[in-house]
Amino acid sequence: MKLFLFSIICFSILSFSNGKSARPIPPVRAVNLGGWLVTEGWIKPSLFDGIPNKDFLDGTSVQLKSVTVGKYLSAENGGGTIIVANRTTASDWETFTVKTEELVSADYEGDGGWGNDNPSVFLLNITGRMQGEYQVTNGYGPRLAPKVMKEHWNTFIVEKDFIFIKKVGLNAVRIPVGWWIAHDPSPPKPFVGGSLQALDNAFSWAEKYGIKIIVDLHCAPGSQNGWEHSGSRDSSQEWGQTDDNIQQTVQVIDFLAARSIHPACLVLTVLLSSGYAKSPSLFAVALINEPLAPGVSVQNLTKYYKAGYDAVRKHSPTAYVVLANRLGPSEPRELFRLANGMTRSVIDVHFYSLFSDIYKGLTVQQNIEYIYNNRTAHLRELTTSNGPLILVGEWVAELLLKNATKQDIQRYGKAQLQVYGHATFGWAYWCLEMWTSIGVWSG
Ligand SMILES: *[C@@H]1O[C@H](CO)[C@@H](O)[C@H](O)[C@H]1NC(C)=O
Ligand SMILES: *[C@@H]1O[C@H](CO)[C@@H](O)[C@H](O)[C@H]1NC(C)=O
Ligand SMILES: *[C@@H]1O[C@H](CO)[C@@H](O)[C@H](O)[C@H]1NC(C)=O
Ligand SMILES: *[C@@H]1O[C@H](CO)[C@@H](O)[C@H](O)[C@H]1NC(C)=O
Ligand SMILES: *[C@@H]1O[C@H](CO)[C@@H](O)[C@H](O)[C@H]1NC(C)=O
Repeated sequence: MKLFLFSIICFSILSFSNGKSARPIPPVRAVNLGGWLVTEGWIKPSLFDGIPNKDFLDGTSVQLKSVTVGKYLSAENGGGTIIVANRTTASDWETFTVKTEELVSADYEGDGGWGNDNPSVFLLNITGRMQGEYQVTNGYGPRLAPKVMKEHWNTFIVEKDFIFIKKVGLNAVRIPVGWWIAHDPSPPKPFVGGSLQALDNAFSWAEKYGIKIIVDLHCAPGSQNGWEHSGSRDSSQEWGQTDDNIQQTVQVIDFLAARSIHPACLVLTVLLSSGYAKSPSLFAVALINEPLAPGVSVQNLTKYYKAGYDAVRKHSPTAYVVLANRLGPSEPRELFRLANGMTRSVIDVHFYSLFSDIYKGLTVQQNIEYIYNNRTAHLRELTTSNGPLILVGEWVAELLLKNATKQDIQRYGKAQLQVYGHATFGWAYWCLEMWTSIGVWSG
């Protein structure tokens, strides 16, 4: 009864105050807390320092070349049949991921020495590594990982960071989390518990300093893109292939959204509820980060977005619901019809302007013009008067060009601030580590 009354009051407060695509005022000016609750090795390489024998973490790609015949070991037809050693060049099928000793049969009886005439001697080439949450936790193992991760979560982002964020004039943070957070304190192996406590800390600091929170499901079960930052084990991408998997992900969203409440309802919550007071700072829920086409189909993603949206609305009439556009072959407006049937929906796009050959050879000035001309055009294509709001959820002040000066970078950063300032929901810079080191914002 209490809860019922509470919901009625909240819904009436809010239904008068918000239109369909009510823009946040002021718009979101956020920084991503990348590399904190979801590991990305490049953001903090030292996190991997203590792993013994770390050359062969999960997801490492190796190529094996026989020294006697000078050819590469290959999974014939891409796997499922025989292993051969007759490839002159190494590409996909000649690059192995999981562990090599499980894939190649070892029936050598020894006693041949390890010379170049020995057919069982292979040159080994590591051609790719992954340094995500799966790798760091599995690398340390169940005894050490909980200690190492707890130390990382307690020190990488601290209250001082929220003071800094406030001071430089930002008003929000986007916090990447992994699906295992919903299973805290004992998530499935190799993931370890404790990230929920860290997220709780972020909520209390956000509340204290008036910072909004966008919780962003960065890692969905099975991985939605195969990259290290989606918690993938070995580059495989399996998310969205079954209804079970989608349902499991919706439950994660349900769990996260259960912490949300509009500020107008906070007083009521405190009055009416005993126990855990829900935080007013959960401003938006991003249902999934960077789903990758064609592995993720628009049909299955739509099914998930509908159910994820309902899960958020079950707990909050006001939290914005962020739908990420697919990366890979996809259309910029492919989610519009879906988003238009929702209230307070936001389309998330990522504007990295360096991970493609099209940026090769561009001068600093050409890069800046690309922002003013092409990115402005991209944003315009996405912006409609009655459609979903737009969030530029990730961007960086980093150029493909290697010799840019600090002034160049600052000019490039300012051009982006100016252009992305027109995004109807706002923007989020990737990430706090880089924000502090590049110093675009000092002026
Ligand atoms: C490698 O050996 C397999 C098995 O004998 C054969 O089917 C395939 O055609 C060979 N490939 C090359 C490139 O020689
Ligand atoms: C190892 O990989 C590099 C880069 O792909 C390549 O240039 C080199 O020839 C490879 N070496 C062997 C022994 O396969
Ligand atoms: C979409 O989901 C259906 C089952 O609901 C599955 O059969 C299909 O393979 C999925 N498509 C992709 C691309 O994952
Ligand atoms: C930027 O836009 C211009 C004009 O529309 C176009 O000619 C150019 O190819 C675009 N640049 C890139 C790198 O896509
Ligand atoms: C930076 O490198 C590019 C080529 O990569 C060159 O054209 C340009 O002159 C260099 N700029 C400076 C400031 O050294």
